[in-house]
Amino acid sequence: MPPSIKIAPSILSCDLGNLNNEIKSIENEIDMIHVDVMDGHFVPNITMGPCIVENIKSKKEIDCHLMIENPEKYIESFAKAGADIINFHFEATKDPLKLIHQIKSLGKKAGITIKPKTDVKVLDPYLKELDMILVMSVEPGFSGQSFMENSLSKIKYLRSKAPNLDIQIDGGINDQTAELAKKAGANVLVSASYIFKAKDRIEAIKKLKE
Ligand code: DX5
Ligand code: ZN
Repeated sequence: MPPSIKIAPSILSCDLGNLNNEIKSIENEIDMIHVDVMDGHFVPNITMGPCIVENIKSKKEIDCHLMIENPEKYIESFAKAGADIINFHFEATKDPLKLIHQIKSLGKKAGITIKPKTDVKVLDPYLKELDMILVMSVEPGFSGQSFMENSLSKIKYLRSKAPNLDIQIDGGINDQTAELAKKAGANVLVSASYIFKAKDRIEAIKKLKE
């Protein structure tokens, strides 16, 4: 049985001044909260750090997507702040295995993320060690970009190799692209603008699950 469909809204597109009410507005319909961490070096944008994670009041899993250089320096702070899943970028480290072990030794779930131009096969040696894979379907850095279809063949490849793994897709997900991603084998759908900018957020989330 492939893992069930999970919805992971990215708080990047919510009203961060009203964070916990924004989360509450969708909390019953979602599976995890996706936190986009950007450092202005690995990606051009700067967003949020452990202090935001610490302030999230929710029982849902908190999934931290670290778009930062030197992720090893910050993993412990995110773990202490309350992250349940820590995803680092393959491109940001020379020793992915060491980072996976660091995350797991803190009692957290470990994920690796790949950018659109990164060959999916680089993940082969790590599949058995991971709790999650995150395939980017936009260049990391900003919400509101268009979905890149080259992510679909990567997802298909990963699903064939890892039938039970959580495979997450992130970037440009809406009701139509979600359909393509699920068909390819993704089961964790990240979405920022499609959910938080929708007139009816609950309806938007339901459409992602359909
Ligand atoms: C991009 C982030 C995404 C982004 C998704 O670097 O990793 O999580 O917020 O935004 P949408 O869903 O609007 O493409
Ligand atoms: Zn993300």
